[in-house]
Amino acid sequence: MKRELLMVGPMYPKTLDVLDATYTTHKLWLAPDRDAFLASLADRIDAAATSGTKGMDDATMAKLPKLKMISHFGVGVDSIDVDAAKRRGIMVSNTPDVLTDDVADIAIGLMIAAARRLVAGDRYVREGRWLKGPMPLAESVQGKTLGIVGMGRIGRAIARRGEAFNLEIAYQGPNRKTDVSWRYFADPVALAKESDFLVAACPGGESTRGLVSRAVLEALGPKWIVVNISRGTVIDEPAMVELLKAGKLGGAGLDVFVDEPRVPEALFAMDNVVLQPHVGSATHPTREAMGQLQIDNLAAYFAGKPLVTRYC
Ligand code: DGY
Repeated sequence: MKRELLMVGPMYPKTLDVLDATYTTHKLWLAPDRDAFLASLADRIDAAATSGTKGMDDATMAKLPKLKMISHFGVGVDSIDVDAAKRRGIMVSNTPDVLTDDVADIAIGLMIAAARRLVAGDRYVREGRWLKGPMPLAESVQGKTLGIVGMGRIGRAIARRGEAFNLEIAYQGPNRKTDVSWRYFADPVALAKESDFLVAACPGGESTRGLVSRAVLEALGPKWIVVNISRGTVIDEPAMVELLKAGKLGGAGLDVFVDEPRVPEALFAMDNVVLQPHVGSATHPTREAMGQLQIDNLAAYFAGKPLVTRYC
């Protein structure tokens, strides 16, 4: 007999097909009455699949007293109340490693696109403005300092790429890493003062909310560029918009925002800002690999084996 699985939100189609074929799936996001739907499953759901912003809060966990495992599609688990899961004895798995390189690529892409005005240049050609004269010069990334907030897997992958672009690497995080030789700063403002490009690559959630603060952005200054591939909450977004408007921050390359998919409209007219719709891991091979990990973690749970990539 098929085991039952609660699915909280929509997911990558190939993953969905496998989960639909393997389990009796219950799709919460399609339920007209969410509370009634959860109540109808409360006595038998022990595993759930979550994805992206459709994680799981404490109130939802409370409605599923038999829940023992959440298999999340994504490395960032900020949409899941992890403390509540721990308290309730619910295991959580995520999908690390398989997306590291794609996310790091997007970080470097955004940095170069913002510095070299690639999107503005594209518009310049399409709108026939080149016919009237050359585009103004841009900033070089060569020989500059790349500050990375968060030296985890993705931060390291960005640092390695940065070195290939002749950038000097520095980083900030809660702890100095003993296995890397890059310059460490405990204080993000001190890091920003030394940086020409500052990339937020730390986890989201309450512990990093506003870590890239107004003071950090002011320290980066009117010439230089902030990049965010982490979570919108990591940057003080209103301060960033205000500083960009006032010419007190040089530019931004942003893949993530506080209230996705809503993006502050003030950014739309800025040629020194490059925007992406949260696509760090959005390639077919990576999404397929993330889905496979989600599937494998569920299979391990139902087989009574250790989870493949247990977060907590
Ligand atoms: C992640 O895995 O956390 C990415 O942001 C995709 O949601």
